[in-house]
Amino acid sequence: MKGANVRALDVTTAALATRRLTLRPWSSSDLTAFHDVFGDPRVIYWGSFSRSLEESTRRLERALAEQDLPRPGLGRFAVALRSTGAVIGNVNLRPANFAEGIELGYHFAHAAWGHGYATEAARAILDYGFDVVGLDRIIAAIEVNNARSLRVIAKLGFVQTYEADHAGAPHRMFELRLGSHATGGHHVAPGLQGGEREV
Ligand SMILES: CC(C)(COP(=O)(O)OP(=O)(O)OC[C@H]1O[C@@H](n2cnc3c(N)ncnc32)[C@H](O)[C@@H]1OP(=O)(O)O)[C@@H](O)C(=O)NCCC(=O)NCCS
Repeated sequence: MKGANVRALDVTTAALATRRLTLRPWSSSDLTAFHDVFGDPRVIYWGSFSRSLEESTRRLERALAEQDLPRPGLGRFAVALRSTGAVIGNVNLRPANFAEGIELGYHFAHAAWGHGYATEAARAILDYGFDVVGLDRIIAAIEVNNARSLRVIAKLGFVQTYEADHAGAPHRMFELRLGSHATGGHHVAPGLQGGEREV
């Protein structure tokens, strides 16, 4: 991390667009989609917390409060299909709790798996993290049995640094350094205004 130069992701003004996706702030009207992602034990398969709509409501409220009080390196985007506007997932950067650094996270509704959406959305938030937030390294922790996520992290160009137990399970730890990620060449899309960028 570049210390004092690291900014929070300004999710309110930095809506990002990729070929098929829009990354934008979560909103209180996204509860159903948020619950489809964070209330599904196939998606959030670790932990033994409640899967109720009430719990998702509390989690979304916490996410919205985080958006309003950004911390350095922190940002969470709802990922929506450009074709329909439907929210299908989440990508975030956040201070890691297992090591010093900013961690990449991605979580998609089960119905949206297998279309390359996680990789496409993660590339956008990585570009944003390196180019705009000012990060020079982004890390990730993936459970050794999470084959899909391991495939995504490999496609993004992360390299494994070590293995360790994390949250009660063996994990592979990864890092991606500024300059070594595959960007896909972003540019401002025709018709996108202000802080919106196509990645
Ligand atoms: C991990 C996750 C985000 C992937 O989303 P996705 O949109 O399906 O990911 P992508 O389509 O971009 O890429 C998935 C890759 O895994 C591959 N894959 C799918 N099933 C697989 C399996 N059982 N074993 C190995 N690879 C698999 C796909 O073929 C694809 O690779 P390819 O492009 O080389 O073909 C999604 O499964 C998810 O939300 N999982 C639960 C939450 C989670 O685990 N988050 C990460 C925590 S570290």
